[in-house]
Order: sequence, then structure tokens, then C-alpha cells
Amino acid sequence: MEVVIVPDAKSGGELVAEAMARLLRRKPDALLGVATGSTPLPVYEALAAHVHAGDVDVSRARIAQLDEYVGLPAEHPESYRSVLRREVLEPLGIGMDAFMGPDGTAQDVQGACEAYDRALAEAGGVDLQLLGIGTDGHIGFNEPCSSLVSRTRIKTLTEQTRVDNARFFDGDVDAVPHHVITQGIGTILEARHVVLLATGEAKADAVAASVEGAVAAMCPASALQLHPHATVVVDEGAASKLKLADYFRHTFASKPDWQGI
Ligand code: F6R
Repeated sequence: MEVVIVPDAKSGGELVAEAMARLLRRKPDALLGVATGSTPLPVYEALAAHVHAGDVDVSRARIAQLDEYVGLPAEHPESYRSVLRREVLEPLGIGMDAFMGPDGTAQDVQGACEAYDRALAEAGGVDLQLLGIGTDGHIGFNEPCSSLVSRTRIKTLTEQTRVDNARFFDGDVDAVPHHVITQGIGTILEARHVVLLATGEAKADAVAASVEGAVAAMCPASALQLHPHATVVVDEGAASKLKLADYFRHTFASKPDWQGI
């Protein structure tokens, strides 16, 4: 696992967007797995800047959703499909025909989950999966005690996650759905490159447990330790509880530029 400490959220966004741009130059039809929430926004802004500057072509890029609320109509402004359309697809000029995600309104939720896992595999698998992290260490919506080999399935959000997400529902925690469909941890680990971005001190405990703690279902993001190409990009706040912070700084500073992350 590579840990990169960046000065702030903007530089973290630029670093991850550069990795996506390099991937797309090498593989123009790459499948990018994207997360929602606040953390990835600087990545999407920086990637859109690359596209508008003409130094990367996303006309063949494909986008895959990580998770979705159960029961919110697709057109609800806070369904993750709507959020991703607004924050990723439209700014990048990518059409919905290049987008794939689970159906959060399906009657047969389990069937929809299985269909999504199959669709990801049939699409050739995710090339780069961007993740945020919850204050409890969740990735996607795999809350603590999720199986480390889980597949896409329905999960119940913890009250903490619902409280954390109430800001997207005008502060009304009752409006935050209880259930979600999320790629499982096993599904996430099938991506060829997994990049976790965390910013702010509120994430420092979760980051330290994920990077330097034991691999444990209590901290779902710790499963990234089992991935052959996992990159954790953290700003100073999120890095503030890492014991090996100086080593991580030294390692990245000595890395040749051409290697990227
Ligand atoms: C959302 C997702 C979640 C978030 C996490 C952090 O698609 O996968 O795991 O990444 O809850 O959210 P923010 O970035 O808003 O702190």
C-alpha cells in the first residue's frame, strides 16, 4: 500500500486526477469507478480542468458507480446517480450511455446487486476505483463488520453515517435512507488500482486504523492492505495520526515522477 501525504485537498484532487488522466491516455476506454460525498469533488474538478485544457480525451471513458441509496427515485437530486451525473458526467462531457450503476429502485434488490456485479465483470472490470472513507472506516457503504470478501448487496447504514450524510438532505437526518446498495469489499478489491482519498482531521483515526492497524472487518478500509495496487492519498489533517508519516513523506519524495501513483 502506498500512502501519499499532500498539503491539502486541492493537491490531493490534482494528484488523483493526474493518475486518472495518465490511465486514460494509456487506455482511452478505461472504466473509472467513482465515489460520491464531499471528498472526491476536487478530483472531479481537476479532471474536468484536464479535459477542458485538451490534455486528456474522455470521449471513450466509462464511469461506474460505487453505491446507491435504496428507494430514492433515480431522478431525486440526492440519488447517487443524479449526484454523479451533476458532478462527474456533465462536467466531463460524458453521456449516460457510458455510465453504469446499480438500480436502487429495483423490486428485486438482490437481483439488481448480482446483475451489477455481473455487469462490472462483463465490462472488463474497473481500472481505477476512487474511494472516500467514512469516519467509521467504511468504504463504499460497507459499514464496520462487513465481510472482507463481500459482493455487491444491500446494507443498512449506521446512524453515524446517516448523521454524516444529513448535510446533503438539508440537515434532515430522517430524510437519509436507511438502506443502500454498495459494491462489496470483494468487488472493490477486484479493481486494478484502488485509490482512497481522505481529507480533514475528522478522518485521521479511520485512516490510521486502515493503514497501520490490523486487517479487520471492524475497519472495512483496512482490506485495502490486501490489494496489490492500493494508494491512500491524505492531506495533513487526515494524516495527523499516522505513526509512519515521515517514512511515507520520504518515500513519495524519492519516487521518480514518471511512476505516478
Ligand atoms: C460514497 C461513499 C462513501 C463516502 C464516505 C465519505 O459514495 O462511497 O464511502 O466516500 O462516506 O464521505 P465524504 O467524502 O462526504 O466524507
